[in-house]
Parts: sequence; C-alpha cells; structure tokens
Amino acid sequence: LTATKGEYKHFMLKEIHEQPDAVLDTLRITLPDFPFSDDRIRSFNRAIIIGMGTSLHAGMVGRMWIESLAGLACEVDNSSEFRYRDAVLDENTLVISISQSGETADTLGAMDLAKSRGARQLTLCNYEGTQSTRVADGVLPIRAGLEISVAGTKTFVCSLVTLYALAAYLGVKRGYLSEERLANIVQELLHLPEMIGQLLSDQSQYERLALKYGRRANFLFLGRGKNYPLAMEGALKLKEISYIHAEGYPAGEMKHGPISLIDRKMPVVALVPQDDLYEKMLSNVNEVKARRGSVVAVAAEGDKHISEKADEVIWIPKASANITPILNAIPMQLLAYYIAVERGCDVDQPRNLAKSVTVE
Ligand code: G6P
Repeated sequence: LTATKGEYKHFMLKEIHEQPDAVLDTLRITLPDFPFSDDRIRSFNRAIIIGMGTSLHAGMVGRMWIESLAGLACEVDNSSEFRYRDAVLDENTLVISISQSGETADTLGAMDLAKSRGARQLTLCNYEGTQSTRVADGVLPIRAGLEISVAGTKTFVCSLVTLYALAAYLGVKRGYLSEERLANIVQELLHLPEMIGQLLSDQSQYERLALKYGRRANFLFLGRGKNYPLAMEGALKLKEISYIHAEGYPAGEMKHGPISLIDRKMPVVALVPQDDLYEKMLSNVNEVKARRGSVVAVAAEGDKHISEKADEVIWIPKASANITPILNAIPMQLLAYYIAVERGCDVDQPRNLAKSVTVE
C-alpha cells in the first residue's frame, strides 16, 4: 500500500480530512463475524477493555458506552499494567483489546495473558492478518484505511465508532437496549460523517488559536464523563506533535492539584458539552477564570453561557451526549495540528515516537 499527501501539507491533516469517509466505511460493518452466540453474550458478567496510547483513550470512552448501553460492568486498563497485575478472569469475562496496528507488544502480551486465563476476546484492529487478530476469538475491523502519520487521528475516531456500535449490539443481545433507543442511535450515527464534515469546514480559527497560544509552555485539558478521555487525548496529541507539556484531567480532580498551576500563562481547554455534567463543567470554567487562566471551551452551538465565560469557543454541532465525544475528537486533533505547524515541528514524524511499538 502506498499513500501520498495529495493537496495536504502533512499526512496528519490529510487523515483528519479523511474522517467523514472513514467513519462511513466503519459504519458499513454490521459486526460481520461476531464470534459469540447470544447465550454466550448474555453469560458475560464483566468486560475489560485494554489498549495503549490513543487506543486506550478510545477504550475509556467505550467503557462508558458498554456500561450504559449494554448494562455490562466494564473496566479499562492500560495493556502494560494489565498484563502484570493479577487480573481475575474467567470464561465469563469479555476482554476487548484495541490496537490499530495489531502489533503493539504490550497489548499482545496482555491478550496472551487473557487467553491463558480463559477469557473470551474481541479485538479492534485497522489491519487484517496482524498478530492481535490471530489471538482474539473475533475481530472488529475499524476500516480507517491506511494511516501514515504517527499521531493517530482517523483510527481513533473509527475505534470510537466501532465501540459505540459494539456497545449497542451487546445491549440489544442482552435485552438491555430497547429497539427504540437502538433506532435513535442508528439514526444519529448516520449523520455523524456529515457532522464531522461540518467540523472540518472552517479551520481558520485553529490557525488563530495557534498564533495566540502556540508559544505557551503548558496546557491543561479538562473534561468529565465520556469527555474526560477526550481531554486525555487532546493533551496527548498536543504533547506528541508540538512538544508542549500538556495534561488531561477529569475536571473534578482539578481542585486536588492542577488548580495550583493555573495562572495567566496557563491555557485550559475545557470540554463543555450540554450533557448532565454541564453545570459542573461550567463551575470548573469559573474556577479557572477566577485564577486568570485562559479558557478555550469546546461547546455546543448556541450555548450562550459559555461564550460569556470563555476566552475562546470552538463550536460543536448539537448532538446526543453519546456522540459528543466522537465530535470532540476533531478539535483536539486540529488544535494540536495547527499549534505544531506554528511551532515548526515535524508533524508526521515526531521525535522519539513510533507508529507502532513492537517491543516492550
Ligand atoms: C504508539 C503510537 C500511538 C498509538 C499507540 C498504540 O504509541 O504512536 O499513536 O496510539 O502506539 O498503538 P496501537 O497500534 O496498539 O493502537
């Protein structure tokens, strides 16, 4: 397989733009070779999601969907931790690994451990025939297409879409999700490529934000619930490609440490969707402003409260609380991308990083 950058300056930007099509391709999968019978699916009493880096962040969102849509207790762990702890597993445990490359050493090690302890396994992977797909009982292909840039973008979004579909599938099979809710989920998912397209249409604000904040030494990303992993992912993307120190935190933790870092020089990216944690995020934004931090909010179109409080707002199309984390991935990617470009960094080949880490 070969790929060219075409009209784009970097593979990363090209791959960011490919997301509406990649999501459409991923959505076409109707969980083809699902390896477990309905009885087996009902017998699971626990799921554990494992992965590294960006894939781990996708898994952190996936966990919440599996709990809320499928009523299945779900944990998430870093593969390199999971493989060395005494994880309690049996044949009623469903282990779901996420690895776009299918070759990450720690994830493969964790899968071997899960297998040796009798757990059933699914894996999400972007490439057929890789080692992870050989070890798992079943494969959920993420269909993102070839990704060249070291910083994962479309593989992350397609992993999220697949996990969301998986959670809904498990929910239906376990009798937890009603037909009506399923129909709403499907309906909204069909609009996802279009909503992502909308988010990609005007990127001038990111260039402006990069000029304004691109020389800062630190960034804090805050989110709650399903958007807490997106705060982690936003911080990861920024540190990977722009070499700015960035931390992602669940906003409720702010008072327990990070708040001491906030001053005039600290930009805080706050994910503030209009979900049931909205008021709580708003008060976190107030706390940042009270300490003179700059707030770049990522919020739902039409939210007047947030424009009064934040220094800058990146608008996201109105969507359900379940879909919002997928949409929020796009500004996390674009912010990191334009800041890295502004700083003259080698976006596609950041120092010290590899696309897949095949040694422990
Ligand atoms: C490397 C890449 C990351 C990726 C991680 C896990 O660190 O640079 O972008 O998220 O590996 O990769 P995987 O192929 O297992 O998803």
